[in-house]
Amino acid sequence: MKNFSVFVSGNGSNLQAIIDAVNKGEINAHLVLVVSDNKDAYAVERAEKSGIETFCFEPNDYQNKKDYEQIIIAELEKRNVDFIALAGFMKVLSPYFIDRFRNRILNIHPALLPSFPGKHGARDALKGGVKFTGVTVHFVDEGVDSGPIILQNIEPVYEDDTEGSLLERLHKIEHKLYPEAIQLMVEGRLIIEGKRVKIRKRS
Ligand code: GRF
Repeated sequence: MKNFSVFVSGNGSNLQAIIDAVNKGEINAHLVLVVSDNKDAYAVERAEKSGIETFCFEPNDYQNKKDYEQIIIAELEKRNVDFIALAGFMKVLSPYFIDRFRNRILNIHPALLPSFPGKHGARDALKGGVKFTGVTVHFVDEGVDSGPIILQNIEPVYEDDTEGSLLERLHKIEHKLYPEAIQLMVEGRLIIEGKRVKIRKRS
């Protein structure tokens, strides 16, 4: 079975959906470590409640990013982590880290990439006046939310939507889409061809 890690900074509702999917056998892999740059994040509490090991670090304790990333890599190697899912992790990973886990880091974003990358995908979609937005799961490369797209799902934007109401519906989509993408990764069915990701049929 494959081992994976989830990186978090905040509430951790996606982490919870992933934990639940593992427990139900919908993700057929071991979630061996939750990594956080914020020890007080509710996500960390969720991991602990589920008996999952956590590794928390304080970025300000390190002179530079490489110093803490090397420590994270050591923690991942100790547990033979095959791939990583970022779930609301607010630190940008360096090219050094991304290269170490090339094509093995996934992220989820609350907009239809390549539209509205960055921290405020839902807010920017509202401001942009689009009638449809959605959720994207993608591989992480050196850019901001720019890696090959794995899965997307759409959601209409209503005239009375606020950022909060839209995000609430997007979260519901995220909690289904992310476990699905992770299971495809586990099954080795994601084939990257340039910017495109092809999903191999089940054999
Ligand atoms: C999600 O909206 C995700 O798309 C974005 O960060 C948010 C994390 O939410 N990358 P949560 O911590 O999983 O509840």
